Amino acid sequence: MGNDWWRTAAIYQVYVRSFADSNGDGIGDLGGVRDKLGHLADLGVDAVWLTPFYASPMADGGYDVADYRTVDPLFGDLTEAEALVREAHERGLRVLVDLVPNHTSSRHEWFVEALEAGPGSAARARYHFRDGRDGGPPNDWESVFGGPAWTQVADGQWYLHLFDPAQPDLNWDNPEVRAEFDDILRFWLDRGVDGFRVDVAHGMIKAHGLPDAGCTDQASLLTTRELPYFDQDGVHEIYRAWRKILDSYPGERIGVAEAWVPSADRLARYVRSDELHQAFNFHYVEATWSAAGFREVIDASLAAVSGVDAPSTWVLSNHDIQRHVTRYGGGELGLRRARAAALLTMALPGSVYVYQGEELGLPEVTDLPDEVLTDPVWERSGHTDRGRDGCRVPLPWSGGEPPFGFGGPAWLPQPAEWAAYTAEAQRDDPGSMLTLYRRALRLRRDLPRTGLRWLEPGARTPSGTDADEQVLAFGRGADFTCTVNFSSEPVTLPAPGRLILGSLPESEFTAVPGTAGAGHGTHGDGERVTVPPNSAAWWSGDVHG
Ligand code: GLC
Ligand code: CA
Repeated sequence: MGNDWWRTAAIYQVYVRSFADSNGDGIGDLGGVRDKLGHLADLGVDAVWLTPFYASPMADGGYDVADYRTVDPLFGDLTEAEALVREAHERGLRVLVDLVPNHTSSRHEWFVEALEAGPGSAARARYHFRDGRDGGPPNDWESVFGGPAWTQVADGQWYLHLFDPAQPDLNWDNPEVRAEFDDILRFWLDRGVDGFRVDVAHGMIKAHGLPDAGCTDQASLLTTRELPYFDQDGVHEIYRAWRKILDSYPGERIGVAEAWVPSADRLARYVRSDELHQAFNFHYVEATWSAAGFREVIDASLAAVSGVDAPSTWVLSNHDIQRHVTRYGGGELGLRRARAAALLTMALPGSVYVYQGEELGLPEVTDLPDEVLTDPVWERSGHTDRGRDGCRVPLPWSGGEPPFGFGGPAWLPQPAEWAAYTAEAQRDDPGSMLTLYRRALRLRRDLPRTGLRWLEPGARTPSGTDADEQVLAFGRGADFTCTVNFSSEPVTLPAPGRLILGSLPESEFTAVPGTAGAGHGTHGDGERVTVPPNSAAWWSGDVHG
């Protein structure tokens, strides 16, 4: 396993509850991940990130941890976790685990103790307990999941929870909290994990005195503005300490920040060379489907990391966001754009994340019945926001009807149409999303390690008008070009070389009649090729420019 593996890694996110169920109880588990390591190795990813599998009452899908060193019996046990790490390594896959340091579960022994110990106790000082103000909460902070960020306990004090009341925020000014997490890091590093995805990495330090935010609608998942509880300078001191721990282990163990910050520049601060290695690029998720929108976010992302010796990351979906097939318009259009987005994303310099099921082209499930919804967002928003269950529906692996080889009856119902999306149905289909991902991930390994340079695509519509504003083209190295047509029209381009991989069948990238050799030769004069609407392609050779 080479040096600096993380700089270009393709990292696959396993949402454990929904990946594969090995014991038939309808809930994905670590045994299920072990069973499917072959799928991941075959897909061509370099690493797996496992969402929390620790002991938890599951108030927020396991992001409410009651014991950081224990595997929840729903998911397996410690021996199973160790076997998973070992078997993944045998297949050349690295393993990242989720670390949830901003808050514990309200059933964590520390919080139970804090409730019993009462105001002013050392046990309460591990969290943020305060007296109220004018009969209400201590300040105006809001929970990301809706409602106030404070809950009152029996003796009258209030405690802070930026998320669900079952997720009390830890007080990171308390050295005991820091020492505990240093130890938790070592616990998992000693078990061979290759690093951590750090949950709410921008949240641990709160502004001194917990001042009012002074506004409403403060934060939602992924997006944020300047707030007294997010992106405070003090968080960076924590990462500098963690980096020393990571670096003290053999191999390259990494930290990845889940940080919602207002700009790419603020994000780059989390990946300075003595802090974490990567940060999820949520600005990329927010790009609207247009050449200008993507170019802007790509430029801003690359510029921001250019000063910090860290790669950018590229993320299209995760367990908190509507799946991108649906975001990009759903149906055939959404699928087609998702195929193009996959090729664009995998051609960019840096590290790429793949959320389980995107390699199958899964759409968001938007019609889950109310009674199956589990995301706390649904209740906390007063049933106005249906929450994130729609991107967490268990994967379809095989067969013609639910649970599609997932295991027992899936904990969220899978749509009957998913028979067409199973890994089995797609494996040998040259036109499937799975085949596209496998081919792209393999070819991606040999892409030049250089940065990108934008090219003038020289795009025209069939009627001859310029269409460069609808098309992106960039080169990497001397011999690789990626083109993306964001428009809903076919356009013609000067042939960028030989087609290596298209998001649509090769037959749709046709030579323009009368421009001999287009698409196959080098840059012959006037050779033009037609690229279909909402498509991307990889070419060997360069567009003029
Ligand atoms: C992160 C997780 C999300 C969770 C929240 C609170 O944003 O990705 O799923 O609800 O943190 O832990
Ligand atoms: Ca199970």
